[in-house]
Amino acid sequence: MEKKKVLSGVQSTGRLTLGNYFGAINNWVEMQEEYDCYYMIANLHSLTVRNDPETLKNNTKKIIALYLAAGLDPQKNTLFIQSQVKEHAELSWILNCYTYMGELSRMTQFKDKSEKHTDNINAGLFTYPVLMAADILLYQADYVPVGVDQMQHLEITRDIAERFNKLYGKTFVIPEVYLGKVSSKIMGLQDPTAKMSKSATNLNDVIFLEDEPDLILKKFKKAVTDSENKVQYNPENKPGVSNLMQIYSSATGSTLKEIEKEFEGSGYGDFKTKVAEAVISKLEPIQNKYNDLLNNQGYLEEIYTRGAEKARELASKTLKDVKERIGIL
Ligand code: TYM
Repeated sequence: MEKKKVLSGVQSTGRLTLGNYFGAINNWVEMQEEYDCYYMIANLHSLTVRNDPETLKNNTKKIIALYLAAGLDPQKNTLFIQSQVKEHAELSWILNCYTYMGELSRMTQFKDKSEKHTDNINAGLFTYPVLMAADILLYQADYVPVGVDQMQHLEITRDIAERFNKLYGKTFVIPEVYLGKVSSKIMGLQDPTAKMSKSATNLNDVIFLEDEPDLILKKFKKAVTDSENKVQYNPENKPGVSNLMQIYSSATGSTLKEIEKEFEGSGYGDFKTKVAEAVISKLEPIQNKYNDLLNNQGYLEEIYTRGAEKARELASKTLKDVKERIGIL
């Protein structure tokens, strides 16, 4: 039987965080055995904010290195850069014409981002979810492993696909969101009521995947908790501790119940240190491999060039079908 397909991606803006890792990339590694997986770097999405061109180029390559270092096998997965498969931009234009302004204006990420970047509310920021729909639909993906913050974009993708299928007959697979078991929404360490984000202004709020062990320990030690001194999962009343428990669960594989047991009677100081140690031991081997890979740019180029070729095979087939159906010569 043909394997089900998976597509996901990460934007190449700024430095990746523990949220990107536990919310997305770590789950992808688990999926590679069972599914036919396409993992891309969404560098066209990155243009919705201003980037230094050299930094954008480097970040794009760095993410390929990170995918490999995190354990994605280039023989089993198609790893590629969005801009190197032109079909994404082309399908995105077509789908724009099947997406309503009203739907796009309801996107919470658009509202948030346009509040943050009042000086640059560009049209790309508005149509961003349509490009994301094109990314997914080109590969006829059955599953899209993402964090909770991307769910609304998945819903609009499904709506666009269903609308198109209704008008022209079954063209696209309707994709389903795939959320990880525990860490589909990692919160900030300083403000555990908001998601951990690479654009945080308080650097203690976020663990970057490139952070050194000492710094990781320091940040966890400063993490905001509560005054109960009791390790117990209760996201509503104990958001800080609950978030640390989720992180610990993702890093060790222990369930939340097991974690409550493990730390019964111990204080937050000890708990925070253990969380930091677990994260460090998960990240350290990845960081080492990542640094080695960055010294081997030729190899990285080989991987993403081959990935784009492979991705194009499927993407061009879908785009050809779409064009035939709508009458584009
Ligand atoms: P991006 O780059 O913001 O985030 C990449 C992935 O990381 C997840 N994530 C989190 N998960 C849990 N907790 C957090 N604090 C956290 N922060 C980020 C995100 O949910 C995402 O899965 N538009 C997308 C990139 C994209 C894409 C796609 C994804 C472009 N095309 C097609 C899937 C399919 C984005 O900006 O993700």
